[in-house]
Amino acid sequence: MKRLGTRWMKFGLILSGSLLLLLAMMSASISSAQPAPTATRSLLSPPATRTNLTIVPPPFAYRVPLPKTDNFDIAQLDIGRRTFTQYCVTCHGDKGQGLEQWRTTWAPERQNCTQVGCHGRNRPPDGFTMLTVAPPILGEGALPNLTSAFAIFTYLKASMPYQAPGALSDREYWAITAYMVDQFGADAKGKEVGPKNAADILIR
Ligand code: HEC
Repeated sequence: MKRLGTRWMKFGLILSGSLLLLLAMMSASISSAQPAPTATRSLLSPPATRTNLTIVPPPFAYRVPLPKTDNFDIAQLDIGRRTFTQYCVTCHGDKGQGLEQWRTTWAPERQNCTQVGCHGRNRPPDGFTMLTVAPPILGEGALPNLTSAFAIFTYLKASMPYQAPGALSDREYWAITAYMVDQFGADAKGKEVGPKNAADILIR
């Protein structure tokens, strides 16, 4: 008899708990039904590689890996590293280690990207939903499905940066590609990476 009583009590508690949760969820979705945001600022700042434009390098810029081999065109690698620092590092990490590891180096209250405001429900007009985890893109085991510079360029142009795919110029996408494949120790025989040689430049 006593056992049965506790069971019913537990059941009642769970039931009322779920009802409360449901109510909370409903009211949250009602309160989040705000007018559509009007962007006052672009999701993408102008490229730091544009001449006549100076962008203050972010504090982590010096940790972004320097070119690794002598197998590439140095000027292209330089554009690649700067563009990578400006547009890719924020999500993929200062060493391309992926968001999971990258955010452990931030202040604890900044680590939950969907709760601090920028990528959550009540994000500002120039925020955006970012629920997926950004994978590692440099280092051992990264890019399991992309083998050639051509495949990397094609993917980047179609899909990155995540919030504004295709927003960069081909020159910038090729430069980022060169910078990335150099980090994997690939070889472009000192040439610029582009449509003519990209299929033959492999990262493994
Ligand atoms: C706003 C965050 C964000 C930014 C900025 C961003 N990415 Fe990504 N990236 C992601 C997410 C999320 C994924 C996973 C996408 C998926 O699984 O569909 C991803 C996937 C990738 C992949 C595929 C990895 C794999 O294992 O196949 C590459 C390569 C990549 N990003 C490179 C870049 C480069 C280069 C830039 C800069 C031009 C960039 N990303 C900017 C969030 C970002």
